[in-house]
Amino acid sequence: MKKLEIIAHRGASAVCPENTMAAFEHCLELGATGIETDVQMTSDGRLVLIHDETLTRTASAEGWVKDKTYEELRELDAGSWFHTAFAAERIPSLEQLFGLIRGKNILLNLELKNGIVSYKGMEEKIVEVIRDWDLEQQVILSSFNHASLVRCKRLAPEIQTALLYMEKLYRPYDYAVKLEASALHPYKFAVTREEVAASIAQGVATHPFTVNDPEEMKAMIEMGVQGIITDVPDVLAALTAAHTR
Ligand code: G3P
Ligand code: CA
Repeated sequence: MKKLEIIAHRGASAVCPENTMAAFEHCLELGATGIETDVQMTSDGRLVLIHDETLTRTASAEGWVKDKTYEELRELDAGSWFHTAFAAERIPSLEQLFGLIRGKNILLNLELKNGIVSYKGMEEKIVEVIRDWDLEQQVILSSFNHASLVRCKRLAPEIQTALLYMEKLYRPYDYAVKLEASALHPYKFAVTREEVAASIAQGVATHPFTVNDPEEMKAMIEMGVQGIITDVPDVLAALTAAHTR
């Protein structure tokens, strides 16, 4: 049986500022087998890793990511909001993260944050960069914007996609097959044992988010999910190690 994927949500986001290189590097030390991160696009078309569409919360600046050039964003401090020890952290480019994971057996889940801002050309750009880096087999693209995922699939059938959703769906595995998605990424309360089993039968994986409580992790593992998206990869790694002992 394939090992459970331990997918670090925004990197090691419980102990480092989310979506920074410090968070990505540290989650690997904590036992993550995968990284989840959020992709937005600058005014000059660079793909950058930040959760919010605006800079206020994690970059201590005014305005929107879409209105700044990459050079402007790189001047911002993406770490001090979390702790002054991280003041040197910057908003990473997608290529920086590719440099970290290429050649390692690490799954990279890129969430396209194009629900509020449309980011014209984002799908083409992300496919181009993934192909330039030969990472088609290591990346899974997810989004709450399912039309965008279909667009990605048409552009790059070789790259896996995953449907993000918050509320329960009717036969989500059928929907995944229809959209040629490899996985479902449901909010943890939208997962059921029956649906996980039916998804497996259809060849669709389930990776719920964001599961930080060990008891909830155990329940998900019992249901048969293939991976868990978590802020605390060390907790999940310890739990899976205890399971397989
Ligand atoms: O990919 C799972 C999760 O990250 C989706 O929600 O808001 O944390 O990006 P959010
Ligand atoms: Ca996300």
